[in-house]
Amino acid sequence: MRHYLQFKDFTRDEYEYLFERAKKLKARLKAGQLYQPFVGRVLGMIFEKSSTRTRVSFEAGMAQFGGHAMFMQSKDTQLGRGEPIEDVSKVISRMVDIVMVRTFEQSIIERFAENSQVPVINGLTNEYHPCQIMADIFTYIEHRGPITGKTVAWIGDSNNVSRTWLQAAKIFDFKLNLACPRGYEMTVLDGETYGKDHFEQFHDPYTAARNADIVTTDVSTSMGYERETLQRKKDFINYKVSEKVMLQAKADAVFMHCLPAHRGEEVDPEVIDGAQSIVWDEAENRMHTQKALIEYLLLGRVED
Ligand code: CP
Ligand code: NVA
Repeated sequence: MRHYLQFKDFTRDEYEYLFERAKKLKARLKAGQLYQPFVGRVLGMIFEKSSTRTRVSFEAGMAQFGGHAMFMQSKDTQLGRGEPIEDVSKVISRMVDIVMVRTFEQSIIERFAENSQVPVINGLTNEYHPCQIMADIFTYIEHRGPITGKTVAWIGDSNNVSRTWLQAAKIFDFKLNLACPRGYEMTVLDGETYGKDHFEQFHDPYTAARNADIVTTDVSTSMGYERETLQRKKDFINYKVSEKVMLQAKADAVFMHCLPAHRGEEVDPEVIDGAQSIVWDEAENRMHTQKALIEYLLLGRVED
């Protein structure tokens, strides 16, 4: 049994399979063909933080597969009243076939997975957001081809999403340029070392964006850090993806954002709503790639 708790849980070869499979599942869905390998199967989803895309993509994907997705907010369950995560995992995993968890510390999902009888998927933690970057790379490949050898410029916070881009840089052999204010530099948590071929930190967004193939960003205050919002708004004021920042990147560069976005804060409306933006495909592809992921965790490699 496999879990998907961080991006480096899968090899490049596995991602290449998943991308091929997601492409096939997407084409099949667009052609109106029913594909229901999971009739009678249940995906349990535990949310300790808010969500639009993650909930809808998993729920719609599981329905398309003929199965059911059960939405649980921790505040409405006994988890919100202090039931130990180990007990919650032991109980839920006896009744469902696969679980997705969105929570705070990575250690919480790791404890859940250790006690689970079924595969567990990370739907975002404070540290990582692997499903997001799987969808992002699939989307880049759809638009521009292989990501290997390319440069991703991240302008903004060293958070769960950028930390996942970093793991992906090593696996797919591309470079992450990260520009953030002083005091917000990336801390590597996975024990890996990242050489200059894969990772460079900057404080100047224009330098980080130079010759980039992807320019991307995220909110300056992630969920769970709301108390820091005012300070962060001030500290990140010069870390916005503007048209001027986009001009530093390659002419065919794309703009990506995991969403939700704050126009005028981390990105200007002209960029996110402009011709280089691929954010809507990026959001939709969460569903197609996660369907490939669910199928892989439950059935392994599928030929048809
Ligand atoms: N990008 C993303 O995970 O969005 P939600 O918070 O809406 O799920
Ligand atoms: N970094 C953001 C991503 C939201 C999808 C957060 O954790 O709130």
